[in-house]
Amino acid sequence: MLKDVERILIDEKELDEITSRLADKINHDYKDSDKPLILLIILKGSLVFASDLMKKINLPLELEFMKVSSYGAGTKTSGEIKIHLDLMRDHLEQYDLLIIEDIVDSGRTLSRLTQLLKNRNANSVRTCTLLDKPSRREVDFAPDYCGAQIADEFVIGYGLDYNEKYRNLPFVGILKREIYS
Ligand code: PRP
Repeated sequence: MLKDVERILIDEKELDEITSRLADKINHDYKDSDKPLILLIILKGSLVFASDLMKKINLPLELEFMKVSSYGAGTKTSGEIKIHLDLMRDHLEQYDLLIIEDIVDSGRTLSRLTQLLKNRNANSVRTCTLLDKPSRREVDFAPDYCGAQIADEFVIGYGLDYNEKYRNLPFVGILKREIYS
């Protein structure tokens, strides 16, 4: 896999610092909440990030998972989100939801998912992403917690894939153009 990597964008030490910084903020922000915290892990890309982040959160928390995809603009289904796997939880008004993502690109997935969960009356809904590509934004959306803003590069590793490969690389790297073009 390493031969397909153009260069390392965020190495293991930097990822460790990012998850520590985000966890400190989350620990601070939720410490006085009277509702249980649910980390809502969006499959598949956020799995590695979520697993490192949660070990640094010192509050009681529960885990749920969703797998979703959003349709881009210009399709018949624009404005919708497709739920491939839903979270197994009722009475969301009893919980603070923190959605964990690997990357925000157009912003469609997280803006629609946030709205969906607010419509299900969650006590609160916030978003935490490892990476953000603000230059790719197509809808007005800003994550509550962000590990790093990056340029519009093809990133892989630490959960992120190309054709389902490279998720197990321990760093975030830039994929060689010849692999995907
Ligand atoms: C990625 C990422 C977000 C979404 C972001 O998921 O995990 O869910 O795309 O894009 P957006 O801001 O343009 O909506 P992907 O569909 O690649 O699935 P995966 O996590 O299973 O790899």
